[in-house]
Amino acid sequence: MSSNPIGLFDSGAGGLSIWKEITTLLPDESTVYISDAKYAPYGTKGEGAILIRSKINTELLLKKGAKAIVVACNTATTNAISHLRAQYKVPFIGIEPAIKPAAFKTKTNAIGILATKGTLSSTLFHETSKRYTSNLNVVEQEGNGIVELIEAGALFSEEMEQLLKAYLKPMLEAKIDNLVLGCTHYHFLIPVLKKLLPEGITIIESGPAVAKQTKAILEKYNLLNSSQQSVNYSFFTNGSTGVMANLMNLEKRTIKKLD
Ligand code: DGL
Repeated sequence: MSSNPIGLFDSGAGGLSIWKEITTLLPDESTVYISDAKYAPYGTKGEGAILIRSKINTELLLKKGAKAIVVACNTATTNAISHLRAQYKVPFIGIEPAIKPAAFKTKTNAIGILATKGTLSSTLFHETSKRYTSNLNVVEQEGNGIVELIEAGALFSEEMEQLLKAYLKPMLEAKIDNLVLGCTHYHFLIPVLKKLLPEGITIIESGPAVAKQTKAILEKYNLLNSSQQSVNYSFFTNGSTGVMANLMNLEKRTIKKLD
């Protein structure tokens, strides 16, 4: 079992940012990644629909032998992970917006959170936010349209810049000094955000913490790979293989099509 892959899923290519962190921290682990891009975005769907897609992805990963599953999507984590944990025996690792480090770091007492509608409206997000930010000004912003543009290959487009300028405006007016990226797709926006943000605003992501947590969970369940077999990375998508390949400089032929 320990030589089996770690499974990851997301509504698209966003979770590849988490895949990168995990494979860097755990270079001896094989992985299998599912991009459910045909059903993206998850962020505008209701909890029930997100849970259905999360179960389909989980069952596919289990069929492919996943020994643990990383829900590499804030929207799926905040809406579905407790149900997944209740239904399947495999250990799950989730990702949530990094509110806590932002709340500890802020000097202006104002932080921005860019995330999907599904994440910002979830009970899990509300509970975490209430716990750490009661004395802070938190500017929550739905990133409507961003995932769609990334999945359409329009990451570096005029349309994206305009969208981001509009989303950042209320945050800059509130003088935030920490910006939390609460969606795994948003990692790929960092070069654009750096161009648009004034100096002194720290961008905070959850990827490194998720990689550490994945390692801790594999240790806890005695699942770290101890075999000498060579590491294998496989990628599956029901969307565009080209977009996925471009985002990570992967070879297109290494990404397989799902129905
Ligand atoms: N990468 C997903 C997340 O972290 C995007 C959700 C969506 O498809 O809207 O939330």
